This record gives sequence, structure tokens and C-alpha cells, in this order.
Amino acid sequence: MDTIRSDADAAPHDAHPLVRDILARHAGRPGALLPILHDVQDALGWIPEPAVPQIAAALQRSRAEVHGVISFYGHFRTTPPARTQLEVCRAESCQACGGNALYEHARARVAAGDPGEVSLAPVYCLGLCAQSPAVMIDGRPHARVTPEKLDALLAAAREA
Ligand code: FES
Repeated sequence: MDTIRSDADAAPHDAHPLVRDILARHAGRPGALLPILHDVQDALGWIPEPAVPQIAAALQRSRAEVHGVISFYGHFRTTPPARTQLEVCRAESCQACGGNALYEHARARVAAGDPGEVSLAPVYCLGLCAQSPAVMIDGRPHARVTPEKLDALLAAAREA
């Protein structure tokens, strides 16, 4: 069971002040590893490598254990997120309405762009089935998306 040690115990690995604050908030809470990882990613957008020994020391666990949890859950990022997050629905209704072609268009566009500009991930239903195909850009849903509309949406996201 994960229980945070005191700040003094964690001091040798105190690589990031924000992580130190998160560890302090979880002090004394059992099973804190996953909530800590979520909080770090929510705060920083990813889990930087220097945070791993800091978390491991505070929880009296090995770096390998912390790495193991991070790599087990696909949700956790170990690299900075792209400037724009694009998710394209790959579920049935969207597939039936051109979603496959839209996904291929998105994939080609992301591959041709600058690294770190746009990330692409599949999602499985955004609740917009009646207005398929659907995408999510930086957490905002868009319906009836064509390749041309997707290009315009990504251009607008880049300008924002
Ligand atoms: S199947 Fe794509 S939004 Fe539901």
C-alpha cells in the first residue's frame, strides 16, 4: 500500500516543486500512486522522467514499480503533449458515415505536419452518432466532419 513519507524523507529526489506539492497533498493517504500520477499529468500535461524517482522515494517504492504503473495505463504520457489533441471516432456509426476515410486523412495530415503540432488518437463513440462522423479537438466535439472541415478545424486550432 502506498503511503507518502514526510517531505524530509523525499527531499533527495525533490526534482520538481509542483510534484512536491502534489505529494504533500496526498501525504498519509493509502493507495496514492494512481491519484498522484493523475494529478501530475493533469498539472503538467505529462509525467516527466525526473518526477519518477521523486514519487518513488515518497512512496517507498522502486522507480521500476512507478514506471510499471505509468507504462501499464495508456492514459499516462511520458512525453509532452502535442499542441493540439485530435481524437477521431472509430466506432460503428462514424465508420458507416465516412469515418475510416476521415481517420486516414487525419493520419496523413498529422504525419505530414511538424512533430508536436497535432496528436491523433482513436476514440470509440463521442455520443454524436446521429451526426457522424465526429471528432474531438482539444476536448471540444465536432460533428459531421469531412476531411475539408477537419483541415479548417485544425487550422483554427493552430491560430487559437
Ligand atoms: S459512433 Fe462516432 S460518435 Fe458515436
